[in-house]
Amino acid sequence: MNQRDDGNGGSDNKGLRSREWWDNRETPDMTALYLERYLNYGLTREELQSGRPIIGIAQTGSDLTPCNRHHRRLAERVKEGVRDAGGVALEFPVHPIQETGKRPTAALDRNLAYLGLVEVLYGYPLDGVVLTTGCDKTTPACLMAAATVDLPAVVLSGGPMLNGTYKGKLAGSGAVIWKARELYSAGLIDYEEFMDMAAASAPSEGHCNTMGTALSMNVLAEALGMSLPGSASIPAPYRERAQMAYRTGQASVAAVRNGIRPSRIITREACENAIVATSAIGGSSNCPVHLNAIARHAGVDLSIDDWESGHDVPLLVDCQPAGRFLGEDFHRAGGAPAVLKEALNAGRLHGAALTVNGRTLAENLGDIPDGDRRVIRAWNEPMQERAGFLVLRGNLFESSVLKTSAIDGAFRARYLSNAADPDAFEGRAIVFEGPEDYHARINDPALAIDEDCILVIRNCGPVGYPGSAEVVNMLPPDYLVRRGVTSLPCLGDGRQSGTSGSPSLLNASPEAAAGGGLALLRTGDRLRIDLGRRRADVLLSETELEDRRTAAKPEVPADQTPWQAIYRRSVGQLGSGACLEDAVDFMRIAQRFGVPRHSH
Ligand code: FES
Ligand code: MG
Repeated sequence: MNQRDDGNGGSDNKGLRSREWWDNRETPDMTALYLERYLNYGLTREELQSGRPIIGIAQTGSDLTPCNRHHRRLAERVKEGVRDAGGVALEFPVHPIQETGKRPTAALDRNLAYLGLVEVLYGYPLDGVVLTTGCDKTTPACLMAAATVDLPAVVLSGGPMLNGTYKGKLAGSGAVIWKARELYSAGLIDYEEFMDMAAASAPSEGHCNTMGTALSMNVLAEALGMSLPGSASIPAPYRERAQMAYRTGQASVAAVRNGIRPSRIITREACENAIVATSAIGGSSNCPVHLNAIARHAGVDLSIDDWESGHDVPLLVDCQPAGRFLGEDFHRAGGAPAVLKEALNAGRLHGAALTVNGRTLAENLGDIPDGDRRVIRAWNEPMQERAGFLVLRGNLFESSVLKTSAIDGAFRARYLSNAADPDAFEGRAIVFEGPEDYHARINDPALAIDEDCILVIRNCGPVGYPGSAEVVNMLPPDYLVRRGVTSLPCLGDGRQSGTSGSPSLLNASPEAAAGGGLALLRTGDRLRIDLGRRRADVLLSETELEDRRTAAKPEVPADQTPWQAIYRRSVGQLGSGACLEDAVDFMRIAQRFGVPRHSH
């Protein structure tokens, strides 16, 4: 690789990797080849050879990804910010990942988008990138890729939709679907009303307005230091969103000039900050999977057990599904900075962590006012004490997570009120082989499901589904729902929607289809869940389990696409981020390997 300064740019432009394409005087034939095609839509040679940082805009929005669709418009403001700061912006598409539209599950595509973005960031003349995030998996896919390549990168969230309302009440996206399911199941609404409720929860452009995976992951990105302060929660249609897009464009140029790469930001300390923030907002149970994946691609040593460090963090944010409000309220109340400030003042954040604007987290939070206490509580007057994640293991799996902020009073009273052992309960397992089996049999009277039961679903992990589906939050049978029993304890090797408030044991790893012990469970077995001891066990002897293990034949459905086949061969388990194991050794490739060899 030749790093040269031919006098065109200032000294701070010497290291721009884009110049290896566009201004390498030692290989004029290659330079000509690279330049001519980028001139053909009106860029000039002077611009491309002026030593301006070239900023990619990784565009995740499209007609197929409505949650991020407005990023196509926001990108225009990003470009203006880049240009005003002295850079040149080049927008390019990222493989679409729409949480609600992609079958069998959007989670299958997180690693595909990741792989594609790595190739683009590494293989094209880019010096830095703005990552347009929003819908659930778009955020981790972008961050994983930026961490792998280690180009200066700034996250721009698209922001939540405006608040939804239905018949005068707040209707949160996702959350309203779970509610409508209950009402439909109980015979209280018909098909038309079901559709109306769903539509009412999505009143504008933007991602989910609940504290689901999208908003949680963007708060997490801000807590990591990868977006500008205050970016995460600005609703998509607000003017501040477009203003943030402009500033993010400017910041991306500064990040290139100042050498602020993801490897300087995504550190162990930053990940610990992200865990505290996720816990305090009552964040999605998908966050452990995604942060652990980001950390692995950044080369940060973070395990699922580290999520326990946030268990004693109080729930500060009164947003659905753990509380009442929605994204607009959260934003007006102060958003992520107000939450981070509470945590910082409580001594729970590493304030010296660097953020993407070159300032530390503590510096960014210096003059942030207290949040509106209706929505963002003070640390010592929380909605709930100790509201973070529990990590449970047992004789059927090595790890699973439980979001304790989802445990409500009714659940506590029913399952966690045994005076002798208030943290433990037992139940009869009802085992489903997947969502189709669940839907076919949940109302089967022969199962005799009652409040003593624990609903279990398997074959829903990364290998089994494939991709790991959001199906563990299973609604009880209709006859129980009509009696007011709207949730039973659930357990599974899949995930659940971040918009669901169901207190489930999720992400059991290893999954049944990868040889995990959930494959051995049978309907009628007794399970014991002990939150105090962080255990979830089937009450069977080791001999019985060994006999079942010998007889077990894990079944994996046929691959339906080439990507499914490749994914299944390489994917790891949810507990370690469900990364492509073939990819995790590739880190900081732009720094380690310079630029790729010439194309011709
Ligand atoms: Fe895209 Fe919720 S479905 S953010
Ligand atoms: Mg989802």
